[in-house]
Amino acid sequence: MDIWECIYTRRSERRFKGESGRAIPGKDIEEILDSARYAFQIENIPQWRFLFIRDQNTKQVLADFAQEVAHMIFGQSYEIFSGHLWYLPEERRPTIAEYTQTGELWKYPLEADFVVIPCITKGAWFDSRVPYMEQATAVGGMAIQNMWLTAHKLGWGAGCNAMPLNDIRRRELFSTFSGVPMSWQMCAAYCFGDRTSARSVGPSRASLEGVAFNEHWGNRFIRIGFRDDSSEIAIPTKDVTEVIKGVRNCYKFDANAEVEDWKLEKMIHCGIWSPNPENLNHWRHIVIRDEKIKEFVAQCTKEAFLLEYKASFEQTKAHHPHLSDDELLQYVEWMLDEGWKYPLECNVMILTTFAKDWVEYPHIAGTLPGGIDYIWSTATGCAIQNMRLAAHALGLETQVNLYPIAEFRRNEQFVTHLGIPSSWVPLTLLCVGEAGDAPDFVFKKRPVPSIKDLVFDEHWGIRHTPLK
Ligand SMILES: Cc1cc2nc3c(=O)[nH]c(=O)nc-3n(C[C@H](O)[C@H](O)[C@H](O)COP(=O)(O)O)c2cc1C
Repeated sequence: MDIWECIYTRRSERRFKGESGRAIPGKDIEEILDSARYAFQIENIPQWRFLFIRDQNTKQVLADFAQEVAHMIFGQSYEIFSGHLWYLPEERRPTIAEYTQTGELWKYPLEADFVVIPCITKGAWFDSRVPYMEQATAVGGMAIQNMWLTAHKLGWGAGCNAMPLNDIRRRELFSTFSGVPMSWQMCAAYCFGDRTSARSVGPSRASLEGVAFNEHWGNRFIRIGFRDDSSEIAIPTKDVTEVIKGVRNCYKFDANAEVEDWKLEKMIHCGIWSPNPENLNHWRHIVIRDEKIKEFVAQCTKEAFLLEYKASFEQTKAHHPHLSDDELLQYVEWMLDEGWKYPLECNVMILTTFAKDWVEYPHIAGTLPGGIDYIWSTATGCAIQNMRLAAHALGLETQVNLYPIAEFRRNEQFVTHLGIPSSWVPLTLLCVGEAGDAPDFVFKKRPVPSIKDLVFDEHWGIRHTPLK
């Protein structure tokens, strides 16, 4: 399936046929799971494991939890609930409230063929710089988005159910049940199955100008159609799986190559069409070309590379299993001399931020069920992945940079300079450009971890048996 068709026609499916429907064949399940491992991982070490569930008893537990929580959240107040349907006309909202406020709608894990629960490391298994949980959960979201798109390409429905695991008490119960250790954060239940009928039309999204700023918070990014004639633009395309497998981290950009505005716009637009909790469009992006900001990011990167590559050769070796010792020595030298400059050489950076919670939700067990537990950063990862996929399809290269964000002092300077309000969390900085010339070892393909090491069947620790 063509990448654009896949991104724009993917929907959240919440009604599956259950036993009366088709079982998803093993080869499709393997293809869906497999697509996850091509997404970005911090330091090339997977931040996630997936719990793969087919057992009806476990699905029942998830469905019951989901219904209880959804009823608790949405059943409280029609006024609050109807506000979440901002994109629908007033008169259509009560009908939807009828089946939503009871929580009945959220029982769909029961009818799904399989459920995937992403578990994100809280840093206990990380051997170097402990990433912020927001970043690690976003990385999980990137992997999920690959699976969602692959399921859609294969004709299967997929939908996220955030309800069953978004409060501490139910998470604790489920952790005892499934053996997921405390050092891993469970983020929602992703359901896959034979949908009752395909949803073709998605809920409306905010406009590009509503979610993207130019250089500074609040300064609207104006799309090219409002500035210029864009009628002649021919958008290239590619197969979605080819794109998923083709995205790589670029450490060398061509400093002279400009990213045309329409390509940038297409990337952001694909981000807007990602799944997002309750369609609240909870992300904002700042498009940055300012040389001074790029210099700041490059300096943060240089500092991080010094710490990273000068710390331990053994550790660096473990992170780069695709390089021989000789290559690795050259690689480290190149990274310290040249590699840190990529934020300066890329043409544009997209800083993605997200709103952590919508405070109208009632508190449950000390958390805000709608968001505070990283489910929203996971969703933002889905948007970032869509942007990366779009960039690749358009012949561009990207690199996920976390250095000015995942360190308290730098983060504070960065946020203040860009005028980001404290209710918005900066998540990743996507460097975008065209590939430049670099020695072969820089672009050498890294090994992709095996699904057997990343997916557990039914219970934590039980390695996935590939299905036929
Ligand atoms: C992290 C995350 C959590 C979500 N939680 C739920 C949920 O609990 N129940 C639900 O029906 N939809 C949920 N959704 C789906 C969104 O409501 C949906 O993505 C949004 O309305 C846009 O619709 P679309 O995905 O069909 O384009 C979730 C999506 C994400 C990414």
